[in-house]
Amino acid sequence: MNKKIRIALDGPSGAGKSTIAKNVANTLGIDYIDTGAMYRAVAYKIIQSGLDVENKRDLVEMLENTDIDFSKGNIILDGIIINDKIRTSEITKMASICSAYSEVREKLVSLQRKMGQSKSIIMDGRDIGNNVLKDAEYKFFMTASTKERAKRRWIELTEKGENITLEDVEEDIRQRDYKDTTRELNPLCKSDDAIEIDTTGLSIEDVTKAILDKIK
Ligand code: DC
Repeated sequence: MNKKIRIALDGPSGAGKSTIAKNVANTLGIDYIDTGAMYRAVAYKIIQSGLDVENKRDLVEMLENTDIDFSKGNIILDGIIINDKIRTSEITKMASICSAYSEVREKLVSLQRKMGQSKSIIMDGRDIGNNVLKDAEYKFFMTASTKERAKRRWIELTEKGENITLEDVEEDIRQRDYKDTTRELNPLCKSDDAIEIDTTGLSIEDVTKAILDKIK
């Protein structure tokens, strides 16, 4: 692909963004940036270091000394691959909390914009189309019913050995949706120029094709 393109893919948790984004990235031969993983990396560091997230001075100092990058499909925090460590329920909760802090958002949004400067990328998250990459060439907003999203997340977690009920996952999704859509800073919301895709009942192949068709 010669022309640089940036694809923004937003939507609530469990809508299937990361699976679709990886497929699109592989097909087009471009990089995939999972911005949720970046918030999870910060959450992981907060928990590991025992930091009190409400202590702004410590939070800022920690962020100044934090390096997050992606390489060959891995997320790297301060030089260490942390892929498997950031997908637990504990990290999910802390990511939701710390993503509401302006200090965290400023740091990560600035890193994300730099990642989109020099190469073609597909970036998924909550505020990509209407904040991080406002001028992206393509914008998509993926949704799915709460029940379907909870089921997908529950399968993912139980396959990893977590002992959690479907009802608890659904409640967790509802709470995260509430936090994501009502937080003061860059809440989740579809940008006017994004194409909306409801993935309820659609296969991964269907959704990947729908996006690729728009791009081609
Ligand atoms: O997509 P995810 O579940 O990995 O995201 C983890 C958390 O980070 C989630 O609570 C929403 C938040 N997030 C955000 O605020 N902005 C983004 N661009 C991506 C994720």
